[in-house]
Formats: sequence, structure tokens, C-alpha cells
Amino acid sequence: MTPNIHIRETLAKPSLFLIITALQGYKQLKGIDSEIYKNLQVKAKKDEFSGKKGETLHFEYISGSEVRHIYVIGLGEKKQIQEGQVRSKIEEAIQTARKIKISEIDVIDEASGLSVRSVVEAISIGSYSFDRFMGTDHKKKHPSIRNVYLTKTDSTQTEIEKGVQTANAQLLTRDLVNTPASHMHPEVMLKHALEIEKKSKGTVSVKALSKSDCEKLGMGAFLGVAEGSDRPAYFIVLHYKGTGKKILSLVGKSITFDSGGLSLKPSEGMMDMKIDMAGGASVLGIFDYLASLRPQIHAFSDIYGLLPACENMPSGKAMKPGDIVTALNGKTIEVLNTDAEGRLALADALVYAEKNLKSDYIIDLATLTGACVVALGSDLAGLFSNNTQFEKLYKPYTERVGDIYWQMPLQQTYAKQMKSKIADLKNIGGGRYGGAITAALFLQEFVEKAHWMHIDIAGPAHKDSGGATGWGVVSIIHFLEEQKDL
Ligand code: BES
Ligand code: ZN
Ligand code: ZN
Repeated sequence: MTPNIHIRETLAKPSLFLIITALQGYKQLKGIDSEIYKNLQVKAKKDEFSGKKGETLHFEYISGSEVRHIYVIGLGEKKQIQEGQVRSKIEEAIQTARKIKISEIDVIDEASGLSVRSVVEAISIGSYSFDRFMGTDHKKKHPSIRNVYLTKTDSTQTEIEKGVQTANAQLLTRDLVNTPASHMHPEVMLKHALEIEKKSKGTVSVKALSKSDCEKLGMGAFLGVAEGSDRPAYFIVLHYKGTGKKILSLVGKSITFDSGGLSLKPSEGMMDMKIDMAGGASVLGIFDYLASLRPQIHAFSDIYGLLPACENMPSGKAMKPGDIVTALNGKTIEVLNTDAEGRLALADALVYAEKNLKSDYIIDLATLTGACVVALGSDLAGLFSNNTQFEKLYKPYTERVGDIYWQMPLQQTYAKQMKSKIADLKNIGGGRYGGAITAALFLQEFVEKAHWMHIDIAGPAHKDSGGATGWGVVSIIHFLEEQKDL
């Protein structure tokens, strides 16, 4: 549940937790009264707080009979402001309030220059916690934030609504990823897709290809992964219409649990593998937004969401190392490691996007390789693209909202590592080195002319500290809504 957001003109009677943004060397702070300002100045002087970038000042004092919290976010100089960083500072501030069981907050942002939509997104996202499986005792002890009063001139109801719905979309993604595999299997992903269809009032349509549909089409790579599981697999297709000329597909890796299959993972590596559907969850989040607000999309005529959803499990029926599967484009793959399953499921989805749906543009989001986490850690995604122009168009939105990535190379000299003696290619490279790149090169074998971005989110899809992040949801929503031409 995200908090209710109210707009305040003036701060007549502020809540007991007040968040303020301040530029470096601020002389006064618009919107706050003299009592608050006086207390703030005393504390700022003592703590040498001057509003430098990255500095925060949090203190409390007694006001009448109540304890009042003041939380000031230093922005630095105006030209130093980076929106993504301000957003995460606001999220931190909200989390602090939540920890001390505050349920009403005031936010005054007259200094950052961020849009009201962005501030609303940060506030709502900061209020999140995953407590679906917690008892009532816990919920009583950790109440959620109910109301946030925002003082920000130039606010409009439409912008606030966009912010709230964008946050809801990202939080839906986080919920799906945080949910354990016992409660999140392919059928549950389909159920969520159908709920999105229902609330879209006819603007989002959903189709689910069953195992036999996929067999008829020839999706041998995806079905090979699904083989070991007792739960039915679904290839889920969502669709939304825009007013542009080009077709876009958003492909999300949707392995609802990755045990590794017969190439079983050690327990340490398997522990987090409920998150292996994070790519698909992000795609569902994005469609949730489209279904809720039904925005006009200028750059694309059609937006598809593709989720090849299945579990990767060992069993008597499971795909075995050495097996050969045939992908939708007819290419044969020697599967030497059943734990490199994401690229198999995605191979069929990429071909489906380009050949069956005629996509001009494809973005895939995938928790694809541990190697990408080794290379970039858990803050950055690894982005590979066969078209630098496409990547350049997307980049500003990622910087704006803090979905940060590092551009990675499709180094063609490594492609020979995937040569097989008995099939068109094999599903692993030569060794451990450059594993994120060889995985991306494998995917590239299934893309022909489409402008394509592959985003490996194995690192930033979740944090040990805070669970799922919903990487990509907000930046892709902003990209879809604002991008005018391609
Ligand atoms: N789902 C994993 C990748 C992963 C690792 C995601 C850590 C999130 C955190 C993927 O299917 C996998 O197992 N990849 C193997 C590939 C290898 C067998 C070539 C890996 O990264 O070890
Ligand atoms: Zn795997
Ligand atoms: Zn996987």
C-alpha cells in the first residue's frame, strides 16, 4: 500500500516528520516557519551542515508537547544536482520515518528542481516494504506510512497520478520478485497478466501459449528448460497500442525458480533464485502502468510484453547436459549446462518478437549471468546493444530515475567459444571469463535486423539488504511516455 499523497499550499500545521531539500549555502528555506528554522539553524551549525551534496541532517526537538523530526537533504549546488541521487535520498528519508513508526510525513521540495512526478515516485517507492508473509504482530509494530503532505509549487493532479501509478508499477514488480517460488510459478505470472488485462478496460490484451502451442510453433529451446518441472509453462504475450510507427517488444526472463536443472546449483547459489523472473516481473510492472493510466505512446505503434515463464528443475524428465534442442528459428543448440537456461528461454522469445511479431525494437531484461554481477556488482546493470543510437535514446531516462547501467561490449571474437561440433551452437562459452559477454553473444544469434538492447540485471534486480528493486520499470515507463521520435 502506497501512502495517500496530498498537496499543501502552505505548511500551517506540519506533521511531526518534516523532510526538506536544501541547496548548499541556503539562506532561508521557503515554506517553513520561524520556529522550525531557528531549531534547524542551531543544529546545522553544531553539525556543520551547509547543504552540501550527499549531506543529510536529521534531528528532533520538542515542540509544545510533541516531538518533531526534521530531516534535511543537502543538494549541493544547483548544477551538481543529479535526479537519481536526489530520489534515493528522498527514499532513504522516508524509510527513516518508517523505522521510527511515523505514519504522517510532510515533504517540502522547493529547491531540487525535480518534477512533482519524480518526487511523488520517490516518496511512494520509499514507503515500500514486503510484509505479505509477516504476522499481524509485525504489521502492528511496523505501521505503514499513511499520508504524505507535499509542498511543491507547480503540482498538478495529473502529474501526481502519474507518479503514484509509476510507483505502484515498480512496487508490483518488487512484490512479484520478493514472493517465494512456492507462491510464484508460471501460472501465477499469467494470473497477474490477466489481472492487468482486466483493469486495462480493453487496452491491454493477453495471450498465453501453452506447452502444446509452443510445440506447434517450434519453441524447442524454451520447452527444453521447462521439461524438468511439474508445473505447466506458459509463454505469455501482452499487447498495448501506441500511435507511432514502430513495433517494440519488451522481453523479460521469467524463470520462476532456477535450481540449475540437472546441472544443479550449490545451495549457496540457489538461495536467491526465486528472483530469476525479475525481468518478466519488470515487464508486468510496465504493463500495469499502461493498463492503469492508458497513456498515449508516440514512438511506437505496438508494444508487446513477452514472458517465457517456466521453472528450471531437475527430474527424470529434465533436459540433460549434452541434449540438443531446436529453437524457433531452426537453430540447433547443444545444451552443455542446464543452468545456462535463461538464454535458451530468451532465444525463442527473441525470435518470436522479431519473426512473429515483426518487432523493429527489442529490449530484453534478464537476470542472466553471475558473471555480470562479478563484473559490475549489484548497483549496475550490464547493457549490450547492437545499436548505439537506441541505447543513447534510453540512457537519459535511466540517469534521471537511477536505473543505472554500464555499457558492455558485444565482443565478436568471443563468439567462436559457442561453436559446437555437433550442433549450430552450444549454450556456454569456453570458461568462466567474460561470461556476461558470451551470454549476450549467444542471444545475439537470435536477433537479425531488430534494434536490440539486452540488459543483464542479475546484480541490481535485488539487494541483499532490501530485496527486490524493480530495476528498469521506472526508466522504461518514462522512456515510453516521453520519447517522441526514434
Ligand atoms: N539465473 C542465473 C544467473 C544469476 C546469478 C542471476 C546470480 C542472479 C544472481 C543464470 O541462469 C545462471 O545460472 N547462469 C550461469 C551461467 C553459466 C552456467 C554459464 C552462471 O552465471 O553461473
Ligand atoms: Zn541458471
Ligand atoms: Zn537463471
